[in-house]
Amino acid sequence: MAKITINSMTTIESNPSNTLLETMEQAGLTPEYNCRDGHCGACRCTLVSGEVEYVGFAMAYTQADEILPCICKAKTDVAIGNAVFQEKKRA
Ligand code: FES
Repeated sequence: MAKITINSMTTIESNPSNTLLETMEQAGLTPEYNCRDGHCGACRCTLVSGEVEYVGFAMAYTQADEILPCICKAKTDVAIGNAVFQEKKRA
């Protein structure tokens, strides 16, 4: 399985059948999102290295080095930066 490194701090295993956003959630993180459909840009982050595959149509504006984790999956080991997320608080 591919590894996803987030903000050079956290590394999680990718789930090949899930988007990056879903994979982050399954790993116990709460990434920023709104539409989950490539429209709003709330989940936008920088692709530092690796390759992703889009499974939806990106409507939100992205720079050349930016991706929308809600509609893409990891094709290789991936490092993303400027991702906004929190770790889930434990009860
Ligand atoms: S959550 Fe809206 S573009 Fe990703």
